Amino acid sequence: MDSPTTATTASLALATEPPLTLKIGERLLPSRYFLAPLAGYTHLPLRTALRELGGMGLATTDLILAPQLLAGSRKSAHLLATNAQDNPLSVQIFGGQVEHLVRAAQYLEDQGFAGVDINMGCPMGKVNSQGGGARLLCDCDRAVQIVAAVVEAVSLPVTVKMRLGWDEENLTAPQLARDFEQVGVAAITVHGRTRQQGFHGRVNLEGIRQVVAAVEEIPIVGNGDVRSVADALRMREVTGCQAVAVGRGAMLDPWIFRKLDQHHRGAPLVDPTPDEQIAFLRRHFELLAERRGNYACVLFRKFAGWYGARLGIPEELEDRLRRMETIAEFEQIVAEARARHGERRTSMPTALVKTPNGPNAHW
Ligand SMILES: Cc1cc2nc3c(=O)[nH]c(=O)nc-3n(C[C@H](O)[C@H](O)[C@H](O)COP(=O)(O)O)c2cc1C
Repeated sequence: MDSPTTATTASLALATEPPLTLKIGERLLPSRYFLAPLAGYTHLPLRTALRELGGMGLATTDLILAPQLLAGSRKSAHLLATNAQDNPLSVQIFGGQVEHLVRAAQYLEDQGFAGVDINMGCPMGKVNSQGGGARLLCDCDRAVQIVAAVVEAVSLPVTVKMRLGWDEENLTAPQLARDFEQVGVAAITVHGRTRQQGFHGRVNLEGIRQVVAAVEEIPIVGNGDVRSVADALRMREVTGCQAVAVGRGAMLDPWIFRKLDQHHRGAPLVDPTPDEQIAFLRRHFELLAERRGNYACVLFRKFAGWYGARLGIPEELEDRLRRMETIAEFEQIVAEARARHGERRTSMPTALVKTPNGPNAHW
């Protein structure tokens, strides 16, 4: 469990650091702890359920293929779904063709979205074969041209999310960050791994520090392997980044943003009660079912392995969550989980046991 004592002494200096807010372009964000996009997971229902727990500064949609967005595909409509409470929000787009990205950004501005994020970090073959995602890290001139064209085409803040480079021999992120800043990018999120690493190994904080050192003033958002308050503080302390994006850590501990907020306010870190844990499980599912009906059962299955250990769900019930087919079945599982909360034998999340190198294989 996190407690103020798990942070290093130097980290604790951040506790009194004012302010918690951060400006990206003209946007004032209420906290420096962001939700990193996780395709297939960070849909509106999850964002809403997490926001209700408090402490989140900015969320970003799953990546949306620019031409699909422009064609108004059903999938992109689901990914773009938002509401007044789902704020602040950026929409992440990707694609290999500058015209698609420019038009997609203009469309988003017309629709009233407040921020556009360009994905240059995705390691997936299907994204990279179209010249998008991390492939752009190999072609700096082109990457800068694309980003500059998008920045010029819209007045809302344009941000970029990238990795450290394609591989250890090509750590292009510092140079790219400097160039992106020159063409008007408002902030950059850096996942401290290379494309070649996928999700293997540990996040390279020194690599992120070099990106922070390379820019003049735009915020750099550090990302990778943050699972606790102490990890987030360490990321800020070692790299000097102005904000931290948490991806998988938010599913392993949905209260991480609230705890970070408590930490910075000098308040004790309060762990959720068993009732709050079960309430979160229900709330996320309920929000998903409101939008997707019974199909929510299928969409929710993959959360079981992330939530099970944290929410005190016995292994056998977690397994039933992974196979559930109806909303009524979900309710039965929740009733049992409430009655048997804490019976679970292991605190290690199944998602990490089954996919020791992260769920890279799934996306
Ligand atoms: C299942 C999954 C889906 C992801 N989808 C996206 C995505 O849509 N866009 C993106 O920029 N990064 C995506 N990422 C990368 C994360 O945003 C993040 O950079 C990475 O997981 C490291 O941070 P973490 O250790 O906090 O999860 C994804 C990662 C995972 C595991």
